[in-house]
Amino acid sequence: MTPDNLDLRKQEAAQAAIEHIKPLLNSKSIIGVGTGSTTNHFIDGLAAIAPLFDACVASSEASAARLRSHGLTVLDLNAVDEVTVYVDGADEVNAQRCLIKGGGGALTREKIVAAAADDFVCIVDHTKVVDVLGRFPLPVEVIPMARGLVARKLAGLGGQPLLRADFTTDNGNIILDLHGLDIIDPPALEAELNNLVGAVCNGLFTAQRPSTVFVAGEGGVRQLG
Ligand code: 5RP
Repeated sequence: MTPDNLDLRKQEAAQAAIEHIKPLLNSKSIIGVGTGSTTNHFIDGLAAIAPLFDACVASSEASAARLRSHGLTVLDLNAVDEVTVYVDGADEVNAQRCLIKGGGGALTREKIVAAAADDFVCIVDHTKVVDVLGRFPLPVEVIPMARGLVARKLAGLGGQPLLRADFTTDNGNIILDLHGLDIIDPPALEAELNNLVGAVCNGLFTAQRPSTVFVAGEGGVRQLG
């Protein structure tokens, strides 16, 4: 698959999400917006339906800037009582709609907005669908002073934690990417990682899994969930 074709698939998944959320929206609706190249297509699609909703909440500075560039209003999450729906991409998706996210480093804000939203719709191209999560290195956002401590704990789980080079999150933290782990029980691992002192957030989305995943492939867009 050429990069152009893959980008077209991402665009198709994003457009499926636009069509899916339209009936949910009214003039007071707040839309949660994720981060990444697939979500960028969704943001571009939102611009075309701007009269159908009120404003957005963004999971990253990059997405906020893109939303604003389309003239869309971006609010602080603390300024809103309800988020109608959250739409975001993913790095891996399994059949149970558990995700690995954080390839773009925005996992913590993404999980926060997903948790705040009434619904979560995920948009991916077909290359993201896997039987077992973990081929994509699992991102863990870490307070800088806890880097060594958390890295040792992650290595104890059987993977190889690597510091993401030259990267600081929007929250001022570092990312350790955990390589080489077959994640057989994603909810159990997410719960275990949630207890790691010094780790702010991990990229497993099982408690905050999407209700719907749109997967775009050669044969069209299919829906999980
Ligand atoms: C960012 C993310 C993205 O959703 C994930 O990396 C997928 O990105 P893309 O749509 O560019 O493939 O979790 O933190």
